[in-house]
Amino acid sequence: METLQQNNVAMPRIGEKAPSFKAVTTQGEINFPEQYAGSWVILFSHPADFTPVCTSEFMTFASMEQQFADANCKLVGLSVDGLYSHIAWLRTIKEKIEYKGMKNVEVKFPLIEDITMEVAKKYGMIQPGESSTKAVRAVFFVDPKGVIRTILYYPLSLGRNFDELYRVIIALQAADAFSVAMPADWRPGDDVIVPPAGSCGVAKDRMDGKEEMKCYDWFFCTKKIDKETVMKTVLKKK
Ligand code: BEZ
Repeated sequence: METLQQNNVAMPRIGEKAPSFKAVTTQGEINFPEQYAGSWVILFSHPADFTPVCTSEFMTFASMEQQFADANCKLVGLSVDGLYSHIAWLRTIKEKIEYKGMKNVEVKFPLIEDITMEVAKKYGMIQPGESSTKAVRAVFFVDPKGVIRTILYYPLSLGRNFDELYRVIIALQAADAFSVAMPADWRPGDDVIVPPAGSCGVAKDRMDGKEEMKCYDWFFCTKKIDKETVMKTVLKKK
């Protein structure tokens, strides 16, 4: 697979198969992305164990793990620290840290040890302008077929917005399920974009009165999908 090389760092891209690797994690060995076939998975990196921003992120992500699981999405973390550092850090989080109402937080998802930086380099997580010894805060959203669907990168100094990560997972699945696109700041229940005729040939067919659409111009049409329909589809709940 062709990848863009910058400073000898491979940069996987949206629409490509997620690069495969085997790794040791806090939950045993994993074979990525093969063992996640059929699930969405978020592979994310953090700069270092025992650091404050990363701790706030892990506590938040672990607290939301069930919410992601309900959306058929698993979580996999990575840093270039070793396994014993990971284990000690996660134990400290569980036993000692109380933060923003979160306490006794157990991180049950796998955290990859990557002391050789092999995986981090494969995924473009080492960005030397920011740090050549730590991974940046990268987030890869991989679909059930193992294809990368969204990539986010944050610098060392900025913790991620986990509501946004959840919004992305819901939006990607809803866009697939309803063959639509999501406008700026879309949230479940907001109008969605019907692709114009000529792009996917969808809007024209739908303008025959079968579906109610609002068109701002010929290239910009939306329709309603209520929140319950979106969430029922994504969460597969009655
Ligand atoms: C942090 O998580 O607090 C952090 C990690 C690496 C560099 C700066 C901050």
